[in-house]
Amino acid sequence: MKKLVIFASGNGSNAEQIIKYFNNSDLARVTHLFCNKLNAGVLAKAAHHGVPTTTFSREDFYDLDTIHNHLKSLEPDLIILAGFLWKVPANIIKTFKDKVINIHPALLPKYGGKGMYGDNVHNAVLAAREDYSGITIHFVNEIYDSGKTIVQVHCPVYNGDTAESLATRIHKLEHHFFPITIEHVLKEY
Ligand code: GRF
Repeated sequence: MKKLVIFASGNGSNAEQIIKYFNNSDLARVTHLFCNKLNAGVLAKAAHHGVPTTTFSREDFYDLDTIHNHLKSLEPDLIILAGFLWKVPANIIKTFKDKVINIHPALLPKYGGKGMYGDNVHNAVLAAREDYSGITIHFVNEIYDSGKTIVQVHCPVYNGDTAESLATRIHKLEHHFFPITIEHVLKEY
């Protein structure tokens, strides 16, 4: 059985979809979830599905190598960033080269980079009067939102859309495509 480890910072609707999808798979399981926020909704979701969780501080992540060492002991086949807002340090990227995957709620390379998360992304798309937005699932390298793209899926932006309505449309795409893309990467790469 292949091992998936998730990093998340918030509500965790993507993390939950991934956990549920692979609970019914004979290919992989989510074996651990890391979270940088003590009160994030994702922690209860992971616990509900029996996935062990670890919360951590900036110091653990960036200065002490605590999370790097913990990750090495877990031997993940893939590390999934599912709404994880901190930049992954270079030592983790190096150890797990081509094994870290992120989802971004827009069509990169537009609307990516530092500060481009959550409603900031959707508001920027709406302000630019784009006809389309969508999702980008990509490998993670040392530079925010710039690793190799695995898949992009488009959706329309409608007149009268708000950040909330666009986010809802994009979440639906994410929940459908993120688990099956992870499965594809596990099989093909
Ligand atoms: C998603 O829109 C994802 O693209 C972005 O953060 C959001 C996380 O949502 N990176 P959730 O916590 O999975 O509900």
